Amino acid sequence: MERKFISTNKYPQLSYTMSGNGNVIVLIHGFPLDGSIWDGILSVLSAEYRVIVPDVPGCGQSTFSGSELSIEDIAESIHLILAEEKIEQAVIAGHSMGGYAALAFAELYPDMICGLGLMHSFATSDNEEKKEQRRKSIELFKKGGKEPFIKQMVPVLFAESTKTKYKNEINKITTSALLTETKSLIAFYNAMINRPDRTRILNNNKLPVLWIIGEEDTIATTKNLMQQTSLSCVNFVEVCKPCGHMGMIEAKDALSSNIVQFASYCFSVVE
Ligand code: MLT
Repeated sequence: MERKFISTNKYPQLSYTMSGNGNVIVLIHGFPLDGSIWDGILSVLSAEYRVIVPDVPGCGQSTFSGSELSIEDIAESIHLILAEEKIEQAVIAGHSMGGYAALAFAELYPDMICGLGLMHSFATSDNEEKKEQRRKSIELFKKGGKEPFIKQMVPVLFAESTKTKYKNEINKITTSALLTETKSLIAFYNAMINRPDRTRILNNNKLPVLWIIGEEDTIATTKNLMQQTSLSCVNFVEVCKPCGHMGMIEAKDALSSNIVQFASYCFSVVE
């Protein structure tokens, strides 16, 4: 695995890793994680593909200047990486907030994406209740509440039935999430509040979509996601169990084999 960096005014340090050769798969992590969340599925994917894993600006080793960031900015940062690597087309898959960015990328650069992966993610925007919850969390962050928030949040990402099994992973993710600056947490929550509904990107679109759903996911619920899985023309749907919001850990074999099969389909259609 090779780690690379780009620097621009907006992103003083944009960090990403590259593994393997061949057609390109980009994996965008969610909130408030970093690219290492995909480590467990990297060897399977990179045996057949060139896998690019960015740290979203504000997470891991990537930074952004100023205090604001939008979901479209995250998509732009992915575009910068692809341009740097002279990549014309890729399968772009995102986990949760990373999926919101993958959808924004599909809207901004439709010719550069040949497959869209939504891992525990969806195209609708926040409803008023969710926006209000996020605004309350932003107030908490501003009062220095990052630590209790993250300690409470990370275990909730896992299914009730897998929490004990993945105790070490929960501790590890909590430790790395705590390194995320408060400025970034606030920027991500504002970005998610402000993101538009992007079901229009799915509606009758021929772009193939891979849906990874966790049966016990309380954030991207099976009910919400299932309602969206027939909007596009070509859908691959996998419901994982036991699994919450963290398929790359809780259902890593199913996740990796689904991504490999999906990418094989997407690249065979475009070739
Ligand atoms: C994530 O996992 O990226 C976030 O929980 C997404 C969200 O809060 O909508």
